[in-house]
Amino acid sequence: MSEYPETRRLMARGAEFLGSDWAIMCGAMSWVSERNLVAAISNAGAFGVIACGAMTPELLDVEIAGTRALTGKPFAVNLITMHPQLFDLIEVCARHEVGHVVLAGGIPPKGSVEAIKAFGAKVIVFAPTLALARKLLRSGGDALVIEGMEAGGHIGPVSTSVLAQEFLPALGREHVVFVAGGIGRGEAIAGYLEMGACGVQLGTRFACATESIAHPDFKKAFFRASARDAVTSVQVDPRLPVIPVRALRNKGTEAFSAKQREVAGLLDGEGIEMAEAQLQIEHYWAGALRRAVIDGDVENGSLMAGQSVGMVKEEEPVAQIVASLLAESEAALTGRRAA
Ligand SMILES: Cc1cc2nc3c(=O)[nH]c(=O)nc-3n(C[C@H](O)[C@H](O)[C@H](O)COP(=O)(O)O)c2cc1C
Repeated sequence: MSEYPETRRLMARGAEFLGSDWAIMCGAMSWVSERNLVAAISNAGAFGVIACGAMTPELLDVEIAGTRALTGKPFAVNLITMHPQLFDLIEVCARHEVGHVVLAGGIPPKGSVEAIKAFGAKVIVFAPTLALARKLLRSGGDALVIEGMEAGGHIGPVSTSVLAQEFLPALGREHVVFVAGGIGRGEAIAGYLEMGACGVQLGTRFACATESIAHPDFKKAFFRASARDAVTSVQVDPRLPVIPVRALRNKGTEAFSAKQREVAGLLDGEGIEMAEAQLQIEHYWAGALRRAVIDGDVENGSLMAGQSVGMVKEEEPVAQIVASLLAESEAALTGRRAA
């Protein structure tokens, strides 16, 4: 008899799509989602995703090979659409015959979806609105992640619960839709599965797993934090659009506002082009996240975390986290049936 039969039944389409036992993706987290965490997630029967972030094609090449050395199970690579070498990165994925590529951070540029499908991989896309979701699915996207503003990292303005109500009844039956943002326990997974999701994506819950290479001080900051500490960054200047980032409040969140004011000042003095200004804002986060995750500078670095951080209380092996999520989901599903 299989374990967690109700959860398995509701995740069947998602698991088949991913080629994993369970349709639980660990969303790509820059610096955190490298070979160790990704392989541990996939080895536990869930689905790991390498965060390419700002990596060069050479680095991605090494990371994929390193991950393959640690797991024979499927995993994906998450590419940021605005990466200047996006097509070279796709080429690296092709060389390694990566089975799934997640395109994040914006609308996929022309030809990128086609280039991924050309080597037989499945394309997973994000969409902030239903209209865009339909368009992306029509033009080659194989699956969709809807991510609410409870999530850690870059976020949109709408909550997961509202996105789920908008997207799942409309697309859940015909398409492969994963729900992300704010999921800390299996009861929430059960809820979204019942609404028509075929799987979920979690980041924050996995960031401090035993297998995660995040610095011990980064993990400690997570264990201490409650939901209300995971706040969104604010945009200081209307000319410098900031995609809000959810992170634990610290000196770094203050410094980000100062950085925006500094770049806005350069724009005023025409000391900088608009594109360069916007890039500087983006790069600020990439560097700051590294400082927190790798160097353990939890004061000045970026502690990207979702609101579910309050449910992350201790370091646990990935397999234990996955087992807890599945047990909670199953208990919720069978409990509702029995009632
Ligand atoms: C520390 C951190 C870094 C992240 N980096 C990325 C990234 O590089 N690319 C991306 O698409 N999503 C990124 N995310 C979002 C996750 O992939 C995932 O969708 C999100 O964490 C899910 O919401 P949750 O945090 O509420 O579980 C990041 C999240 C965190 C917490």
